[in-house]
Amino acid sequence: MDQVRAETLPRRYSLVVVSNRGPLSFLNTEDTLKPIRGSGGLISGLLAALPSRDALWISAIAGTADMAAFKQGLFSVPGIDLAPVPIDHETYVGAYDRIANETLWFLYHGLFDMTYEPSFDDQFYVDFESYRRYNQVMSDEVALRAELNAVVLVNDYHLNLVPGMLREVRPDLTICFFVHTPFPSRSELRILPLQVRTELLESLTHSDSIGFHSERWRSNFLECLSETSLPTPRLLVEPLAIDLTELQERASRSDTQESARLLNTESGTRPLIVRVDRLELSKNLIRGFRAFERMLEEWPHTQSNCSFLALCYPSRTSIDRYRRYREEVEHVVKEINERFGTPHWTPITLKTDDNYARSLAALQNFDVLLVNPVRDGLNLVALEGLAINQRKGSVVLSEDAGAYELMGDLTFGVNPFDIVETSQALYSAAFEQTLSTKEERYRKAHNRLSQRTPQLWIEAVTLT
Ligand code: F6P
Repeated sequence: MDQVRAETLPRRYSLVVVSNRGPLSFLNTEDTLKPIRGSGGLISGLLAALPSRDALWISAIAGTADMAAFKQGLFSVPGIDLAPVPIDHETYVGAYDRIANETLWFLYHGLFDMTYEPSFDDQFYVDFESYRRYNQVMSDEVALRAELNAVVLVNDYHLNLVPGMLREVRPDLTICFFVHTPFPSRSELRILPLQVRTELLESLTHSDSIGFHSERWRSNFLECLSETSLPTPRLLVEPLAIDLTELQERASRSDTQESARLLNTESGTRPLIVRVDRLELSKNLIRGFRAFERMLEEWPHTQSNCSFLALCYPSRTSIDRYRRYREEVEHVVKEINERFGTPHWTPITLKTDDNYARSLAALQNFDVLLVNPVRDGLNLVALEGLAINQRKGSVVLSEDAGAYELMGDLTFGVNPFDIVETSQALYSAAFEQTLSTKEERYRKAHNRLSQRTPQLWIEAVTLT
């Protein structure tokens, strides 16, 4: 009897990682399921760090293609054990679209237009119930798969309620939470209904440790806790590291090399300004394009004498305002191209089809990389660009990105709301620097980034 039970019980792990998005998802194309790599910094970091550990990665699945792939047992990645958890459609829409993305993401990134939003109506409370249900399902899966005294790494705002739920049933676990986004200030968090913000904070404080990408987000969290009587867990500032070896290996493959060749043929000897982002409201794409437009206006000799390649990939397309944002971005690019373009020159080339090899090629070949989010937990693209660029290019970086705390002294820092300052930074970075300044900056950036690895990051944030 015991033997039968042992055979049917799933394997338990000493390290369990849980996140909403997993490393793999599927697209339904022409009746076949096409695997695609999950996007985002969290995925890159965990994919690099986990193969060296005996770990299980639990993540949610909800779309029809993912569900079909799940039924066929297609979720597997070399070197990592995966546990995809199916979530029903209604729960996922309430939890992921409405609470995680349209409420918490907006709050954490300061994206609300306060005249109109947010409004916590009856639907909000229905959705929050879905968020609770979703967190409970994920927490139950962790409780089932973690061995006695295991370490659990819970990631991000989708799973804020997991530490509290898990602590109740598994007091033996070491629960480490990591915040990959900014954390809101006390006055921002107070926008949430009292009961909701108390529930979120209380759950988080059941963690043994909470990690942040920057000191600023850690001190916001402390400030939020200060008006409660909740205990303070151990707080860490540990920015995620890039996997330089993997990036370099990937960049040396033929598809990246071919993309690089095409890029260099198109841009020629003119300075190449690049951005690589998701089509995401916090990325501040429109002010970035307006800053470029102002540069063309203010320094007319730059017209026809530089190019801007914007690689902006669709994100959260199930949400109406993300679809509208994409249309606005396309409209602004069209307007600038019509105003300044000539038969021989297109000022901005906007590509919205996701192509990883082309993104890497662009990061290797920019003269200027524009990373100007209105607010960002870290921003891995800035770090990747600084690490693998081959032209000793410069990064124009938002002072409100967590990456600024780590690399700001080696970039052109900008207030993301200031189009004038951003246009001046673009101009200086593209047209006014000496080779020796660029070389010196590049050497320092490379040294700093190569000392940190995803493996060291996961050891630090899991206290192991
Ligand atoms: O910034 C935190 C993060 O979890 C990233 O890893 C990821 O890019 C994003 O948020 C989540 O995006 P998505 O909604 O596409 O999973």
